Amino acid sequence: MGTTTRTPPLPRTGARVIRMPLSSRARKLLLLAHIAAAGIWLGLDLALGILVVTASTADAMGAGAAATSLVAVSTWPLVIVGLVTLATGVLLGLGTKYGLVRYRWVLVKLVVNVVLVTLVVLVLWPGLTALADGGRAALADGVAPAVTANLVFPPVVSSTALLVAMTLSVFKPWGRTRPSATSTTPRAPRAAAGRTGG
Ligand code: HEM
Repeated sequence: MGTTTRTPPLPRTGARVIRMPLSSRARKLLLLAHIAAAGIWLGLDLALGILVVTASTADAMGAGAAATSLVAVSTWPLVIVGLVTLATGVLLGLGTKYGLVRYRWVLVKLVVNVVLVTLVVLVLWPGLTALADGGRAALADGVAPAVTANLVFPPVVSSTALLVAMTLSVFKPWGRTRPSATSTTPRAPRAAAGRTGG
């Protein structure tokens, strides 16, 4: 007996992909907000680095002023720009062909963004609160605050990660996370099963 003709399956990727198509104007506005937030984030990291060095090297009054400014710059402002970068990035991913997990460069940025914001909330912020007390005491009593050498790492690690993320955004390397099956031409099951890429 001959083989029975079966209805070919629908292309698999289209069914599971969340898409939120953006108009050209909306995409440009989101991209502008995304790039601005990422730029401000990098700027805050550089300011944090400068203030850490000043708090470690200046006299008691200078160190106290740097320590209190350091806390003001690198707690909630850092969290807000991190979240704005994340939110605009996610909307851009969902609204464009790039998706959230479809391209490696987007997936890496998603992970980097979430990890950096989490580190600020869970590690940096609590550590800096103690430094703020030291800074205020230094301004009142003239005793230099204790600034640990470890504080150099957050601005160095974060700004390096952000520069890597910016480089990925511009060069968009590495292609897709898995072979695409976006062909809209239905194929016979056997032929479709044999395909590995596309
Ligand atoms: C880690 C922090 C991030 C930085 C520093 C960053 C930086 C940038 C920059 C500079 C661009 C503009 C590239 C260009 O137009 O040539 C861009 C575009 C883009 N970003 Fe991010 N980004 C970050 C996080 C994210 C996240 C978390 C996502 C999504 C999960 C994302 C998704 C996108 C997409 C899809 C575009 C291309 C938009 C388009 O061309 O329509 N980004 N990003």
